[in-house]
Amino acid sequence: MKILDKDVLADHQGVRIVRLAIQAPDIAAKARAGQFVVLMVREEGERVPLTIVQADPGKGTIVLIAQEAGLTTKLLAGAKAGDSLHSIVGPLGHPTEIKKYGKVILVGGGVGIAEIYPVASALKNAGNHVTSIIGSRTKELLILERELKEASSECIIMSDDGSYGRKGFVTQALKELLEKSTYDLVYAVGPIPMMRAVSTVTKPFGVPTLVSLNAIMVDGTGMCGCCRVTVAGKVKFSCVDGPEFDAGQVDWQELMNRNSIYTEKEKHICRLTGQ
Ligand code: FES
Repeated sequence: MKILDKDVLADHQGVRIVRLAIQAPDIAAKARAGQFVVLMVREEGERVPLTIVQADPGKGTIVLIAQEAGLTTKLLAGAKAGDSLHSIVGPLGHPTEIKKYGKVILVGGGVGIAEIYPVASALKNAGNHVTSIIGSRTKELLILERELKEASSECIIMSDDGSYGRKGFVTQALKELLEKSTYDLVYAVGPIPMMRAVSTVTKPFGVPTLVSLNAIMVDGTGMCGCCRVTVAGKVKFSCVDGPEFDAGQVDWQELMNRNSIYTEKEKHICRLTGQ
């Protein structure tokens, strides 16, 4: 799987986010909004899930966006056009249900903005009024502003430090919108604390709220159990049952604990390999 193009979307305060165009005709032919791939950068490496941000069946290409977090994403961010990935499997997961809901709010935090983009485009094309709220810690880390503006009926920008758009968290803007009008769906992707906060904000308004979970994955096909989450008291696998779930039913504390389980090992491996 050849990397055709790579560009750096953000590189600031130790956070680097890259966009990669990859030759993957079979995946491009079938991918739908909300689905993901699992890739390996090299044979002895781990497998990481990444949302399919764009797919062009005509050219046979897909676009992925990754933020450097552990060794694999650092290797991916360091790859150049012309390099090849060891493997890529997809499209995986249930696609987002695209239909006419009416008024929809999409909330994207950090690299989660990349994941709401294909859903925003598809929902707008299906005739919905799409309001996107996108936010980052600071101006330099905001990605895909132009794309989200094009894919939305309106787009609200937030930054934690007030350096761009409005100062504050995405949940603040979300609460204000819900207080002013009625909405038919909220869809959120971002860091776990953000998605958890979104579910707390929407609950009193009774608006259906979906989140796309970024659980740790290995096989991506329901066999290893690594991506286990508890939803409405039942064990679910993010890869085959999700990645989208009802935000109000997710056991957020468990997800947070499971996702941080390898943090120290990741740091150790990065130190050992000089990455
Ligand atoms: Fe293995 Fe989901 S990644 S069961």
